[in-house]
Amino acid sequence: MASSLRTVLLPRPTCLRPLLQQIRGVSNRAALTKLLLPVNEGIEEDARRELRWMSEEIQRIVDLGGTMQEIHQEKRLEEMVRERAGGKPLQYVLGNQPFGSLLINVRPPILIPRPETDDWASKLASLLLPSLSNSTRPSASAAAEPPLELLDLCTGTGCIPLLLCASLPPGTIRATGVDVLADAVELARENAAANGIELVGTSKRGGNTFEVLQRDIFADGFLEEMLGAGDGRRRRNPDVLTSNPPYIPLKEMESLDRSVTEYESHLALVGDVPHLLPLSFYPPTLSHLHRNRGLDFYLLISYLVSRGLVRSPAPASPRQIDPRPPQIVLEVGHDQAAEVEDVLMKGPAAERMERVERWVDWGGKERVVVGWLKEKEE
Ligand SMILES: C[S@@+](CC[C@H](N)C(=O)[O-])C[C@H]1O[C@@H](n2cnc3c(N)ncnc32)[C@H](O)[C@@H]1O
Repeated sequence: MASSLRTVLLPRPTCLRPLLQQIRGVSNRAALTKLLLPVNEGIEEDARRELRWMSEEIQRIVDLGGTMQEIHQEKRLEEMVRERAGGKPLQYVLGNQPFGSLLINVRPPILIPRPETDDWASKLASLLLPSLSNSTRPSASAAAEPPLELLDLCTGTGCIPLLLCASLPPGTIRATGVDVLADAVELARENAAANGIELVGTSKRGGNTFEVLQRDIFADGFLEEMLGAGDGRRRRNPDVLTSNPPYIPLKEMESLDRSVTEYESHLALVGDVPHLLPLSFYPPTLSHLHRNRGLDFYLLISYLVSRGLVRSPAPASPRQIDPRPPQIVLEVGHDQAAEVEDVLMKGPAAERMERVERWVDWGGKERVVVGWLKEKEE
């Protein structure tokens, strides 16, 4: 009697396996969560959330058609946890970072897109949208009106131009990203493909297009190429210039978190490059600015604008929708807005500038300086 009861009550070995796996899985998860505690300041909820994101990322890859056996999924999860516990930024462990509606692939040493950049790039898209939508631009679909040309200097993963391409009506924008690093150029191209944005010259669907160039923006010939001496068929002098350039003062690098300085390229961070910028770029009108404040890329941009980079807007037509979108949009360090405003309004570009504005992020910090150029004289 007793033995027959046991056979009834005890699950058979084949049923036992999933149960054991489940128990093992739970204890394994507890152990993995524990490993993540130190990089989450001991907060268990945060560690558990990171673990969930890692599992979800593995599941996403499986759902995309990846053939990963369960045992390999567990191994991959453990590997991710160990990388994270060793101090690798979570986004590099996951391999991507949401940016607006996009999922941007990331890997060291290319800068992980930050939420504040997402914030202003989305705001710029919503400002550009009314003037590019069909109701106010009836000829756009007939290709009579050329697409808006956007140039993003220091593009990294390509997140800014790709978000604008994805957010604006098809055929209304052609974006160029420029970065000095070959790894960035490769990643930006990969991100275009991953997010369904066609490359310039390959568009079959008449959508918005993207191109990425490996260039040093300080190099001789860069300006001339952008102004149109390039391949002759492609105008690159943009209607809108965006940039989130390196802006951290060299002396502040030491105070940055190790997870930033160890994984993200210093080229993406340090804004003091006196060896690249001739002293003459600092005119007497900017003598109040210190040369070690991480402002060199803004000085260069102001100089490039003074030499004709960025097209002057056409005079406002009665159809013009307000507010008019800016032509220059620059992300700045948390305490640099006033200086960058001066770099545009009192620096080399002063003659061409109409006005500037500062945009604040959700925390009220001035993180973006935007500029409007004087209208084209008719
Ligand atoms: C702060 S990161 C911004 C990346 C991206 N735009 C973003 O917002 O996530 C700056 C980028 O500038 C690039 N860079 C640094 N020096 C450069 C130069 N002289 N010419 C072109 N790009 C440069 C770096 O490789 C890096 O990708």
